[in-house]
Amino acid sequence: MTLIRSEIVGFGHCLPQKVLTNDDLSHMVDTNDEWIRTRTGICTRHISEGETTSDISFKAAQMALKSASMTAQDLDMIIVATVTPDNTTPTVAAKLSKRLEAKYGAICMDISAACSGFVYALTVVDNMIRLGQIKTALVIGAETLSNIVDWTDRNTCVLFGDGAGAAIVRATQGNGTAEDTGILATKLYADGSHYDNLIINGGVSTTRTAGYVTMDGKEVFKFAVNALSQAAETVMEMAGVSSKDVDFVIPHQANIRIIEGVGKKLNLPEEKVIVTVDHHGNTSAASIPLALSENYHAGRLKKGDLVVLTAMGAGFTWGGALVRI
Ligand code: UT7
Repeated sequence: MTLIRSEIVGFGHCLPQKVLTNDDLSHMVDTNDEWIRTRTGICTRHISEGETTSDISFKAAQMALKSASMTAQDLDMIIVATVTPDNTTPTVAAKLSKRLEAKYGAICMDISAACSGFVYALTVVDNMIRLGQIKTALVIGAETLSNIVDWTDRNTCVLFGDGAGAAIVRATQGNGTAEDTGILATKLYADGSHYDNLIINGGVSTTRTAGYVTMDGKEVFKFAVNALSQAAETVMEMAGVSSKDVDFVIPHQANIRIIEGVGKKLNLPEEKVIVTVDHHGNTSAASIPLALSENYHAGRLKKGDLVVLTAMGAGFTWGGALVRI
């Protein structure tokens, strides 16, 4: 049986130049390198100095297009997962369409699903491709979280970073087995009863400001380990594979203890669990595409590898995707 699938054919990323260390933070709030390292696994993060979310997305997009040997003229759709857009409207996707000189009619949309944003966007694109509505899409996760971090709050300011990751996704043909190249399964979830547990506490129709990120860290932590594992297990089950068949898992990069907890629950050895939180911090929607691109271009992720992506964030939202690169 032949069927339409979507495959990822290019990866790109961009990190702002400025690196903020834990020691730097210890001069800003009452914290220290030891606490941050042991409680979160974070050593450094990149911070934008005036670069907007669309600026770093643009660079990530150019790299992804080059890696796919394509131009923006090949794109039928641009989708950007972000909670830190340049403007309330239009979308970051529309700004990229202008800067990349995408073709007339290419669909533009942003998607707001916090740290799950890239997996949500990838799922939307996978479904549109499989329905034959589009053939090629640019999928981006990008954040300048430094703009919505309260730099006087030690509970949150040590956790986040800025960055952008991009993937080019295009239609291909498969035969419906787990040997196919491309996106083999996706599954999304949400539970709005946790609306207040992790929130950027401003907004157009409430405070008319962007607000600052606040969260019940312990509640998020507990939920995250189970949600990330559940989404990963579900997509493996949907495709009829087990964790033994998987080459890598890329969990959302929020805290090394959450990432290790997910690896254990999935029975995966350490070397199959990709970690970037140490040098990226939590970059929300950018964390998974950044990890994908960085590891692909470093040669660690290779064509043919079976990779589980799993993410969880504000909402709560969560979800997974199983991809053969
Ligand atoms: O992207 C998805 C969303 N985010 C997450 O997934 C984050 C999930 N949560 C976490 O990663 C962890 O809960 C945190 C890293 C946020 C906090 O770790 P924790 O082990 O849950 O620490 P805690 O909140 O229980 O705080 C322990 C202590 C507190 O002091 P007391 O009350 O015990 O005296 C805090 O005030 O650590 C203190 N503390 C700090 N100390 C030094 C909190 N932040 C800091 C800090 N430096 N930056």
